[in-house]
Order: sequence, then C-alpha cells, then structure tokens
Amino acid sequence: MNLYERAQAAKQATPSPAPPVQPYPIAPVPPESPSVTPSPSAAPSPGSGFGYATSPRPNETAKLSARAPAPGPMPRTDAVGRLKVNAVETLFERLGTRLNDANLDEAALQTMVLTELNQVVEESKIPLSSAERKRLIREVQDDVLGFGPLEPLLGDPAITEIMVNGPDKVYVEENGRLRRVPISFDDEDHLRRVIDRIVTRVGRRIDESSPLVDARLADGSRVNAIIPPLAFSGSTLTIRKFSTDALSVPDLIGLGTLSTEMAELLKACVNARLNIIISGGTGTGKTTLLNVLSSFIPSADRIISIEDAVELKLQQDHVVRLEARPPNVEGKGEVTIRDLVRNALRMRPDRIVVGEVRGAEALDMLQAMNTGHDGSLSTVHANSPRDALARLETLVLMAGMDLPLRAIREQVSAAVDVIVHLARLRDGTRRVIGLTEVHGMEGQTITMQDIFAFDYSAGVDANGRFLGRTIPTGVRPLFADRFADLGIQISSRVFGANDTWTPRR
Ligand SMILES: Nc1ncnc2c1ncn2[C@@H]1O[C@H](COP(=O)(O)OP(=O)(O)O)[C@@H](O)[C@H]1O
Ligand SMILES: [Mg+2]
Repeated sequence: MNLYERAQAAKQATPSPAPPVQPYPIAPVPPESPSVTPSPSAAPSPGSGFGYATSPRPNETAKLSARAPAPGPMPRTDAVGRLKVNAVETLFERLGTRLNDANLDEAALQTMVLTELNQVVEESKIPLSSAERKRLIREVQDDVLGFGPLEPLLGDPAITEIMVNGPDKVYVEENGRLRRVPISFDDEDHLRRVIDRIVTRVGRRIDESSPLVDARLADGSRVNAIIPPLAFSGSTLTIRKFSTDALSVPDLIGLGTLSTEMAELLKACVNARLNIIISGGTGTGKTTLLNVLSSFIPSADRIISIEDAVELKLQQDHVVRLEARPPNVEGKGEVTIRDLVRNALRMRPDRIVVGEVRGAEALDMLQAMNTGHDGSLSTVHANSPRDALARLETLVLMAGMDLPLRAIREQVSAAVDVIVHLARLRDGTRRVIGLTEVHGMEGQTITMQDIFAFDYSAGVDANGRFLGRTIPTGVRPLFADRFADLGIQISSRVFGANDTWTPRR
C-alpha cells in the first residue's frame, strides 16, 4: 500500500475523523485521589514546570476542582495540609531567588527543591505514611516548580490556547472555541509570580520599565505576558500551546482538508521543486499544511527552515532550523526573519521553508526563489490567491527599496509557481479550497489560473457540512510540462475524467 492508499484506508477505518472531544477535567475528585489545600496566598507558587506532564495527573484534576468557585470538595485542613503550607513557605525562605535563577537547569532545580523538601518534612516530625509523604512532595513541587493553577490546562492536550486576563479570569481555546474555565489565581501577586518565573527562566525580565515580554517554554509553547499599567485589567498571560503531534497527510485527508488526489498533486508539486505559497486567514491551518508539504521534500535535500517561533516539525534528517529573535530589554540584539533568509542563502540550502512571510523578508525570499533556490515553501496571510499576490507586493514594498511596482510584480510572478488557498468554511472545517497557478504578466497585471476550485454548488448536508469537494477546473496547468520533463507521474484520477492535461510522456 502506498501512502495514499493507507491514508484512504485509515479514513475508511475511522468514520468520525475529528479528534475526540476531551472533556475538561473538572470531574469530582475520586475518593482515592488526594484532596488538596489551596495554595496559601503567602506562599509564592510561581509556576513553570518547563517539562510538565502531557496528560493531566489525578492531583491536578483535584487541584482544579479545589480552585473552582463551583461547589467542590472541601480543602484539606488536617495536619498534612498545614505541613504543606509550611513546607512551601519554608522552601521559599530557604531557596529564595535561586528558584528563578535562569542558570540553573530544570533538573538541578528539581534536585535542590527535593532535597530541601525532604529536610523540611523530616524536621516537621509529623508522622506520615509513605503514600502521604509522596503525595505531599509532589503537591509542593507542583506549587513551587509548576505553573500552579495553570498546570492542568497545560497538561490537557485538547486545549490549544490559554488566556489569563488578570487573576480571576482564565479562558481556554478547545476545538477552536473559546470558553472560560473555573480557575483562578489567589491574587494578582500569585499570577505575577507565575509570570516572573516563566520569563526569568528564559533570561528575560518583566517589570514596569519593560512590561511586555515574549517567551517560549521548553516544550515550544509560546508565551506572551503584559502587565499593568499597560494591561489595565491585571497581568495578562497568553500561552499558545505547542501541539505535540502535528497533523499528518492522513489526518488532513481524514479531516476533509485535502482529498487523496489533492495530496498526491501537492506531493508532485513539491517534488517538482515548484515554489509554493500557502495562503489563508488566521488559524485556517497554513502552518499545519506547510508542515505537511515540507514532509514531501525528499530526504536528500538540505532544508533550512526559518520561523518567527519554531512550529514546524520537519521529520527529515538534514534540516537546519532557524528562529528569529526579538530585541532584548535594551532594544538590542534583534534578528529578523529577513536577516535569517539572507543568512540561509549562504548556507547552501536546497530548500528554504519560511514559516510565514509578513515583512520585508518577502523581497529576499522572492529573490531566492528566482535565483536557483526553487522548491521553496512559505505561507502568507491572505483572503484569496489574488490577495496573496497583492500582499506579497505590499510586503516587498516594506523592504523600502523603492522598486517600481512593475518590477515587484515581475519578481512575484516569476518566483511563485503555485498558490494553495485554505479557508475555514462555515461548517467549521478547514479545507484547501483552491490551487492556483501563477503564469506571468500581462501589461501591469499578474496572470493566474485556477487549477482546482471548491465546488460550493454541491450544497450542505443535514448538519450543515459542505458536501462539495475541491475539484479540477479542467484547465491544464503549465506545471504539467514540468512534471513530464522530470518524469513525475501522477495518477489520472487526480484530474478526474478530464484528461486534457495528462503528461505527454
Ligand atoms: N486541516 C485542519 N483541520 C482541523 N484543524 C486544523 C487543521 N489545520 C490546522 N488545524 C488546527 O488549527 C489551529 C491553527 O492551525 P495553524 O496551522 O497554526 O493555522 P495558521 O498557521 O493558518 O494560523 C491549530 O490548533 C491546528 O491544530
Ligand atoms: Mg501559522
């Protein structure tokens, strides 16, 4: 079975391909699960388990419930509970700023906390069973080294984004929808401590003189923090979680984003070293599709990927991943995507993959595409393929080279071979709704031709889901010649019954 047959088989095997909806873990605490004392407001519990578990642990579920304003289990008030409060306080007294020391790695920190913690428990002389002791140690570790109340959200794979608007309002995005969750921080200070811990661990700082910071957690999740006075409603934290498993070709086929035929065609386009731009609105799945298209790059090629924040998960061996850097606190040290694209040209790339063009790097990327670095891939935010070209033009103008518009258009039309357009349809599905070939110039206008277009005329089913597919328009693409030259075969079903363009060899 080849890739697509397997994908097809997988599709048939799973009639409902959408990922299962993970219920948010606010179930009542099971009897055997530990109840938890809410963390004392006096005890700083700055979070950040920079290597947090990927699935919610039972005590996190408990913690979530314990913090929920809704009626839940009573907090523990026994001797063990008091011991925990004490332990957290003592730890902070003893370890102080070392807890936020960026030079200490996570393992060293863990060891340090564990040693101190064991000592605190010894000194307390409260008799504990070994189970109680283990539980206590884990809870304290979570509060001291973890993200505090955010831990369960970070551990829930169904949650893609976490937004904290001040200490009492926490929202999450799950399956593309926003909702508020019953989680809160003890107070603004508690939230600030979590934020401080996140940013200091990556060697940055946040305070009144630099009240906004971007940081990345060790697992790749992106964090933005902005604090008062800029954030009027209290410290605000936005975490875009790094999804652990990227969607693959069979996933996209299963989700209806691609047909097997479209996948086959795109693979051929990548193999034929066409320069491909993926266009679409925010959150339409551009980066995800870029990742999938990159997976088609032959493993013999040297790939250089350039991103604002690393998101791509290229599986090939020979990949150099570059990431841009924002300026530091003093406004120095910025390295832009543009700098990286220029640098990449001196690194003997076979393929350059730019996560998203959104600035002056457009010029360098187009130049690279036009000077032998064909087979490059990127994405651009645009509402249609035509808009994508207009956007590239605008971005090139941002390079400030004073190029005449016609020269820019010539660059764009010569560089870009194919635009793959994505959209999020009214039924909530994300689909490739068109494949457009860029031909050249006619007068002042770039000429382009739709090769595939979405068939809206098929209407919707009873659930409002679009029945249409992205179908060939019947126009024979110029790249068919390139396929023929390179001996790249694609099955005749890609273009359905229409055989007007079948490669001549
Ligand atoms: N084809 C798809 N079907 C369903 N969900 C998708 C698809 N592609 C991406 N997603 C999800 O949509 C969100 C945004 O995807 P992303 O590729 O980052 O979009 P963009 O780069 O256009 O902003 C992610 O949570 C991702 O998992
Ligand atoms: Mg993106």
